[in-house]
Amino acid sequence: MPHPAAATKVPVTDQLALRVNGEPQTAVVEPHTTLLEVLREPLGLTGTKFGCELGECGACTVLLDGEPTLSCLTLAGDAADRDVTTVEGLGGAEPSPLQTAFVEAGAAQCGFCTAGMLVTGTHLLAEDPTPDRSAIEAAIAGNLCRCTGYTKIVDAIELTARGEFG
Ligand code: FES
Ligand code: FES
Repeated sequence: MPHPAAATKVPVTDQLALRVNGEPQTAVVEPHTTLLEVLREPLGLTGTKFGCELGECGACTVLLDGEPTLSCLTLAGDAADRDVTTVEGLGGAEPSPLQTAFVEAGAAQCGFCTAGMLVTGTHLLAEDPTPDRSAIEAAIAGNLCRCTGYTKIVDAIELTARGEFG
């Protein structure tokens, strides 16, 4: 008699189709593969950072159908046929205004948190184009900066809201 698990065995790999930064992509994934793992490799989008892998640091934040999402806690299969935006997709041929602001304001030190901060900040400005500093601080509360560069990060988002960089 076959082992009960054999009758319900799930495939160990599957072909995932999703859209990343507007481009259709496919990848072979296992049931436990996270979106973060797929983005970094095989897709090679290493801007999204592998931090705590526990949902605590925000370094892995991407937009999933436009909403900030922790890619380390998202199964790749849950992104099937959905739109993912990573830090690589925030600008076009030129950096986005917020990306420029981060450079001009000195808002990136080691840079480990920067991708997550940019994704979160971009979403905030899309939802609320004129946030005050407390709204900015609340929006990035889930993004930890180990270099404690919060003041300049908030400055960069505020300067962008004021239209200083296009
Ligand atoms: S790596 Fe996802 S929250 Fe830290
Ligand atoms: S710039 Fe180093 S963690 Fe934020």
